[in-house]
Amino acid sequence: MDTLPAPGSFNLDGIVPWGRRLDEYAAFFGLSAVPRGWPAILDIGAGPASFAAEATRQGARVVALDPLYRFGGDAIRRRYAATRHDMAAGLERAQRRFVWDFYPSPADVLRRRDEALELFLDDYDWGRICGRYLAAALPALPLADSSFGLALVSHLLFLYSHELDADFHVEALAELARVAREVRVFPLLDLEGFRSPHLEAVVAGLAERGLVAEELPVAFEFQKGATSLLRVRRG
Ligand SMILES: C[S@@+](CC[C@H](N)C(=O)[O-])C[C@H]1O[C@@H](n2cnc3c(N)ncnc32)[C@H](O)[C@@H]1O
Repeated sequence: MDTLPAPGSFNLDGIVPWGRRLDEYAAFFGLSAVPRGWPAILDIGAGPASFAAEATRQGARVVALDPLYRFGGDAIRRRYAATRHDMAAGLERAQRRFVWDFYPSPADVLRRRDEALELFLDDYDWGRICGRYLAAALPALPLADSSFGLALVSHLLFLYSHELDADFHVEALAELARVAREVRVFPLLDLEGFRSPHLEAVVAGLAERGLVAEELPVAFEFQKGATSLLRVRRG
């Protein structure tokens, strides 16, 4: 990108490779413990998050999927480094739009992103060989029906409502409900901190396909007002 975000804004061009850690995923998705073994968990748009690496170490079966995984670890590290400065600047400028509770400071957020990247990269080469990291993209997944118990979508759908339209969201969530028994999406706000303009249309579009989408409270808040997730299941 050529320009930094405007003061108070946290909108960056494109969808950034910014990864979170397992304890953050557990907070977003209300996972008191990551289920071990089967049923397997699918992390969609996982990027350089360390959820798959950390959960695998705890005995869970996790597959992470992202178009970014067509690249090797060095390229992903470079891509992360290229966006880190702008992300740090955006976070500083938009501080008042966040709740500094789980994370005490912008520096703590950055430290966690760096840790997640390193944990992810430590696991990436071996994990690719094991099939833990799949290069693919919504809305069409190269996965069998019902092959996962749970699919998690963190900081992709709804957050990037300006890049991804309502039809894309319906197609993507219907595809996820095909491959997983339950889908959870967090957050439901866009990058500007507003409730996604697609939410109502997406819930209605899913209902037309026989899918039940429910908004459930989350005991975690960073983006002010981002206190719910969307759970999608077959009716
Ligand atoms: C902001 S990152 C979030 C990473 C991780 N889920 C987390 O919360 O830590 C968004 C990720 O979505 C990925 N992405 C973009 N378009 C996608 C698509 N069509 N299908 C799946 N992933 C996509 C990007 O490559 C990027 O790694």
